[in-house]
Amino acid sequence: MAPHGNGKKKRVTFVPAGLERKDSEELVAILQERLISLLDLGLTIKHVHWNVVGPHFIGVHQMLDPQAARVNELVDQLAERITTMGGSPDGRSGSIVKQRTWDDYQLGGRDLVDAHLAALDLVYAGVITSHRKAIDATEEIDPVTQDILIEQTESLELFHWFVRAHLEDSAGHLVDADDRTEKAAAASARRATDSPLSAKQS
Ligand SMILES: [Fe+2]
Repeated sequence: MAPHGNGKKKRVTFVPAGLERKDSEELVAILQERLISLLDLGLTIKHVHWNVVGPHFIGVHQMLDPQAARVNELVDQLAERITTMGGSPDGRSGSIVKQRTWDDYQLGGRDLVDAHLAALDLVYAGVITSHRKAIDATEEIDPVTQDILIEQTESLELFHWFVRAHLEDSAGHLVDADDRTEKAAAASARRATDSPLSAKQS
């Protein structure tokens, strides 16, 4: 996942006090890429919320709604930071597809709880890694924006732990530890799930 999307910068309509124009434009580009990422994450969490089946369904179904709600708040925070920086946030669904530098979530429909959570584990890992790159990129330009990203990363990491706690054994080993794609992670989780459903869906 590349840190700053397609790298296209848009001109800002005003320069916030104490910043250079080039810096506010750089900040808007970084924030727009993070906005697209969290919009996509929010949609993916809801998709998982609707499509999990099997044992532990209700717990996971209900765990995901507060995550989606919080991610929605983070989206709003990023969008309003873009406007504060003199930019214009682009939250259109077509723009998500056009501007993102990662593939669509790979599990298209209903699947076992652990299969979706293993795939979501990789989604969170990607989003958090990119948020951390954005934290590094804003270090010198604007510590205020950096502070927002740091606070957001704390929430994302908490939710990542909630997801991973379902995929861990008592020794701390994750069922999808070596997987690099959502499909592979889901397959590992299905193999590890002691359920008659797993045989049908793997
Ligand atoms: Fe719901």
